[in-house]
Amino acid sequence: MDIQERFETRFFVAGSWRSGPRTFAVKSPIDGRVLAEIADCGAAEARAAADAAVEAFAKWRHTTAYERAATMRRWHDLMMRESEAIARTITLEMGKPINEARGEVRYAAGFVEWYAEEVKRLYGQTIPSQFPNKRLLALPQPVGPVYGVTPWNFPAAMVTRKAAPALAAGCTFIHKPAEQSPLTALLLGRLWEEAGGPAGTLQVLPALDPVPVSEVLMGDERIRKITFTGSTEVGRLLYRRAADTLKRVSLELGGHAPFIIFDDADVEQAVAAAMGAKFRNGGQTCVSANRFYVFPRVRKDFTEAYTEAARKLKVGDPLNDETQVGPLVDRQALDKVTAHVKDALARGARLVTGGSSEGLVYQPTVLLGVDEQSRMLREETFGPVAPIVPCESDAEAVRLANATPYGLAAYFWTRDLTRAFTVAEQLEYGIIGVNDGVPSTPQAPFGGVKNSGIGREGGHWGIEEYLETKYVSFALP
Ligand code: SIN
Repeated sequence: MDIQERFETRFFVAGSWRSGPRTFAVKSPIDGRVLAEIADCGAAEARAAADAAVEAFAKWRHTTAYERAATMRRWHDLMMRESEAIARTITLEMGKPINEARGEVRYAAGFVEWYAEEVKRLYGQTIPSQFPNKRLLALPQPVGPVYGVTPWNFPAAMVTRKAAPALAAGCTFIHKPAEQSPLTALLLGRLWEEAGGPAGTLQVLPALDPVPVSEVLMGDERIRKITFTGSTEVGRLLYRRAADTLKRVSLELGGHAPFIIFDDADVEQAVAAAMGAKFRNGGQTCVSANRFYVFPRVRKDFTEAYTEAARKLKVGDPLNDETQVGPLVDRQALDKVTAHVKDALARGARLVTGGSSEGLVYQPTVLLGVDEQSRMLREETFGPVAPIVPCESDAEAVRLANATPYGLAAYFWTRDLTRAFTVAEQLEYGIIGVNDGVPSTPQAPFGGVKNSGIGREGGHWGIEEYLETKYVSFALP
């Protein structure tokens, strides 16, 4: 199949591509056109996937690390071969500017490559015994079949960040992609098949309504783990549901990242990084900077330079190579961003640039004088809106930064080493960018504290989420 020209519209279960009993339309946020009518999976498809995942696990878990690494390496290479087709699919289905989508494909493939290498280093341990005839071993074992639910904002990278460590560890993976972005997920499924991934190891179940699929898989005690990226609200429901069958749980949930610019910051660098931290993916990342706290000495320079840079962003058609900010994913997203800006203005904020939309494209927006009670300083906006808030002292910066139930990512700019360490230690977040606006990378731990989630993805932490420790005690005769 020429995957550049045609989207996969079937679901992928037990190594075969099947048409659904029902279908749903995937629409492009660029112009609202229907890209494809795809299979809409429900309870029956979920049950078939669970059976296949259990059957495949019995064999996949006993393949050698070297066999799994080779399959994953082929998957990585195929992703790179098809990188343009994947990037285009991402852009068409969720509106990410094409150049960013190309970067996402490299990021996504990076997880596959990293875990293809890491699987060869899943060492166990030997434990000294007090008895001369005993040998004690701790062995890493795959947790079992996994159910993974991914979001639309990174249609490729959030799949591989979960599926790559799971598959490398010897688990099988049932994937339910977001209803806005299933086409990329199905394409990745095809590439897994082409890489020689055995039937039932990776399965893809698109669904317009996730509930029937989730009900089956969350209630099935053979599915040993749930991994989810999405809202805190849904994460809580899954966490509760996981208790019934005592599944292992990884949750990567919402964020509300502060971005602090201290008096001694390099303003030029801080502005450049703050552009990425705020406007990458149109502000639709869980680690997007949501609020900027700026110290007196740099306030004027930062605000002017940042506003100027925001005005210069190229906005519009995400398929155009030059575009830096494309449409938001859907009407609901646009309504939320619009409501947050309206709320801030009603509470006395001043609009410096932006504040309007055309179609689903919201103009990059900068606001000053935003009241502490404003929604955008308390809830995730998930859009290209930057509220700049004055801040006078280190203690105040830390207090304001931590005054949220979320704890995913926080950023700050300083040239003072002591401040860098003390502030990094005081911030209640899972990820800290010190003079760094985009810290995410496959080999590092990604995840949050408080309402931002449980567990870590990326690096060796990411694969440990898919491993159990089996203790074996040998008594020699
Ligand atoms: C996310 O939005 O959850 C992913 C962002 C990233 O990997 O940087």
